[in-house]
Amino acid sequence: MENITDFQYPHTFTLLGASGDLAKKKIYPTIWYLYRDNLLPKNTRFVGYARTKQTIADVREKSKKYIKVRPGEEEKFAKFWEANDYVAGSYDKRVDYELLNQQLSKYEKGPVANRIFYLAVPPTVFEDVTVNIRNACISIKGFTRVIIEKPFGRDDESSAKLSNHLAGLFKEEQIYRIDHYLGKEMVQNLMTIRFANQIFSPSWNRENIASVLISFKEPFGTEGRGGYFDNFGIVRDVMQNHLLQILSLVAMEKPVTLNPNDIRDEKVKVLRHIDPIKLDDLLVGQYIGNPNGQGEETQGYLDDPTVPKGSVTPTYALAALWINNARWEGVPFILRCGKALNERKAEVRLQYKDVPGDIFDGQAKRNELVIRVQPGEALYLKLMSKSPGMKFDLVETELDLTYSLRYREADVPDAYERLILDVFTGTQMHFVRNDELKEAWRIFTPALKQLEKQQIKPVSYVYGARGPPEADSKLAEYNFKYSGSYKWQKPAL
Ligand code: NDP
Ligand code: BG6
Repeated sequence: MENITDFQYPHTFTLLGASGDLAKKKIYPTIWYLYRDNLLPKNTRFVGYARTKQTIADVREKSKKYIKVRPGEEEKFAKFWEANDYVAGSYDKRVDYELLNQQLSKYEKGPVANRIFYLAVPPTVFEDVTVNIRNACISIKGFTRVIIEKPFGRDDESSAKLSNHLAGLFKEEQIYRIDHYLGKEMVQNLMTIRFANQIFSPSWNRENIASVLISFKEPFGTEGRGGYFDNFGIVRDVMQNHLLQILSLVAMEKPVTLNPNDIRDEKVKVLRHIDPIKLDDLLVGQYIGNPNGQGEETQGYLDDPTVPKGSVTPTYALAALWINNARWEGVPFILRCGKALNERKAEVRLQYKDVPGDIFDGQAKRNELVIRVQPGEALYLKLMSKSPGMKFDLVETELDLTYSLRYREADVPDAYERLILDVFTGTQMHFVRNDELKEAWRIFTPALKQLEKQQIKPVSYVYGARGPPEADSKLAEYNFKYSGSYKWQKPAL
């Protein structure tokens, strides 16, 4: 019996939507880095597919700006493009996929050949594309795996429809639903931090933790993407997927083993303990231009010509989720995300409760464990210490693991690199399973529908601010205490 996952066999990686933004900005650079580092099967061919009539030279030209080629790599880079082809075809006509199939077959000498399809296409053509792959492009002598990009629907109903559609075409083991946050170093580290350290396990619960804050901030607005974004809004774009995935890894119980399905079973289980979000627990915001800013900063969301007039789509959201189980009952999990804010940042912040039986006249501040996902991966634990020297004062300080200092030589790969490689090796641990998706939509759909039905107007915040001022009072309401007294001293390099 052949081991079809063996890297010695021919593999094809077909990128549908090869003329698009994601393709040029992310996927072509990613497959080049994987190729450059010899991580893919030697015998891999890359095929771009889209409606645009163009050559592979055009694809190369368009992605040039986004691809890093270091000195000395030029020859290999040329070889990479030699391993690439481009086929122009429609998304809805079977005959075009038959031509694609013929092209793929050309590379498939020998008894086994595997096919991967990456769907970087808009949701409108999604059903046509998957049906046609199923009908005309399935590998007859190896595996066929399909990578799917979000959005996975707009609500519980459309997502269920999409899931049923896919389930009629492919087995769950063939479907790789990408949430690229699951490919980030510190998100992948969450399980290790939690389950390989006895020091954290006993305190990871409602007895010790006051609140958990999971944040995503971006310092730019929708700039040019307003048309797409307006149909979704920040809750669907970031909170329902990236932040909820992080929450499930922070809050789940220890899986039986590291088997992908054991892990995903625990993620689903914790999500099932969460009731749908109530409107009272959701604050939405929308950015307005900063009259004192420069360039883009002066433009509010509604000034974007691609955004419909008077749109109430949120560009900022803060929600508190409650996990009704023995570990977490009463602990707010606060998810916050927004565009056009003061900085780029994604982090998890576990804030511990006040020390009971205080003997320090209220000077002791709460401990915080911060897992910074980006930029600059770090894990730091804020704690109290005696000020060094003769005095007996308290100082706020930290135990700090900053990756760039501790692992100077290590190269942290991009999320897409890891995830695409996982598809080649058949590892589904960092992909979203169907039932996880269903739970995610169950939690978010009712509030999203209410927002839309009642046309709830988001509160305003100025481009470049930390968010709407109302968000800080919400944080306080959810037992997150900000003292403003912590000062971090960047260590000298
Ligand atoms: P802070 O105590 O300064 O901030 C804690 C949290 O409070 C943040 O989530 C911040 O988020 C929020 N916050 C800020 N202002 C207010 C406000 N007025 N009301 C309510 N909440 C507020 O600690 P940090 O952990 O953020 O550390 C301070 C700095 O030191 C950061 O830049 C951090 O990156 C850096 N540092 C870096 C380390 C490293 O690189 N290894 C280690 C330790 C610290 P937000 O603005 O998003 O709302
Ligand atoms: C995407 C969202 O999923 O994630 C974008 O659609 C967002 O709106 C992006 O900008 C953020 O990803 P990253 O990796 O840059 O944090």
